[in-house]
Amino acid sequence: MEFTFPKDFLWGAATSSHQVEGNNTNNDWWQWEQRIPLEMRSGLACDEWNRFEEDFKLAQTLGLTAYRFSLEWSRIEPSPGQFDNSALDHYRDMVLSLRSKGIEPIVTLNHFTIPLWLAGQGGWLSDKSPEFFAQYVHKATEALGNDVHYWITLNEPAVYTYKSYIVGQWPPGEKSAIKAFKIAQNLAKAHVLAYGKIKEVYTQKGWKKPMVGIAQQVLIFEPSSDRSLWDRISAGLRDWMINHLFVQALTRRKTGTLDFIGLNYYMRQYVRNRGFLSANIFGEEHVLENPSVRKNSLGWEIFPQGLHALIKAFSKYKLPILISENGICTNDDAQRSEFIVEHLTAVALAIKEGVPVIGYLYWSLLDNYEWADGFAPRFGLIEVDYKTQGRKVRDSAKKFEGIIRSGRIRF
Ligand code: GAL
Repeated sequence: MEFTFPKDFLWGAATSSHQVEGNNTNNDWWQWEQRIPLEMRSGLACDEWNRFEEDFKLAQTLGLTAYRFSLEWSRIEPSPGQFDNSALDHYRDMVLSLRSKGIEPIVTLNHFTIPLWLAGQGGWLSDKSPEFFAQYVHKATEALGNDVHYWITLNEPAVYTYKSYIVGQWPPGEKSAIKAFKIAQNLAKAHVLAYGKIKEVYTQKGWKKPMVGIAQQVLIFEPSSDRSLWDRISAGLRDWMINHLFVQALTRRKTGTLDFIGLNYYMRQYVRNRGFLSANIFGEEHVLENPSVRKNSLGWEIFPQGLHALIKAFSKYKLPILISENGICTNDDAQRSEFIVEHLTAVALAIKEGVPVIGYLYWSLLDNYEWADGFAPRFGLIEVDYKTQGRKVRDSAKKFEGIIRSGRIRF
């Protein structure tokens, strides 16, 4: 059977500022990296700040029609209330470069990193943080809005809250449920204010109405054992808290502030709960040691059917859905080709069943800095040699290009 994707389907790839730009010395991640070994620090990353033109040309040759990237807040507002026009001009050049190549820019306003000055004031814990964010968003919208239609305010607010404030793996390394709750509240407020600001600027300027959303990481949470009520409860709670809670809060009737939902999908996770012996109602992740389970190089289970199931589950919000990230880190490029085909098949099925999926963005355009995991995981359609900053288009990218150019997939 063959499926033809809609004509205006967005075929793209995604990145984020700190992971690719290099030398983002003025944010909380850079500061955090000073305590870890040199090779685990972001450093020059992919030197994308200086090489975007070359990489956008490669994206164009691959037939991409969309590109998601993030603005680095700490470059645009290096100190409170001081905006750097040269940084805004730089991002404007990026947007115009994409447009000139027929590539739709999809701009993320916050992808995990925050300026050092804000981190010094408690980051997203500060009651002022939503307002600070809105001011920065206002400036960015005025500078870029004329040429940007799609905005993503926040990347994975639930993951950020979890990694930075519950398990403490990311800056500021906190482990506090109370703080996490406050963070989630402030992130939601920040989104709502930013949404309002973007809309206000577009209305004032008379620009065509933009589409504003968030990128939400979603996982398939499976009880480790179907027979265990506790496992089922914990898996269900994770599904609600990590996948849905944020989106639910932002799509309430009358006060809805999402024009589309971005889904970042990578894996299936098994959840185990030792019942009354466990202190944690959310249980723990249980890695299956089953040799028939396919995994990426970080050990995440590859489960394409999960993408279909999650798109269907999120269709209940009755909003357009963008697959804002989906990808694999692997040293076996044939595995990447297979991954892309299988996940696009899942998307195709969902569209065929009536869900309005508007695009698919592969993570990532090029190998990059994978946060606490450093540079070892290779997610890119384009290989990066970090010693020379050389680029090499992978065969999987060509496979993706073939699907893009034909606009069809067979399954
Ligand atoms: C996402 C995140 C990206 C990237 C990707 C691969 O959660 O938004 O920044 O790191 O995962 O792990």
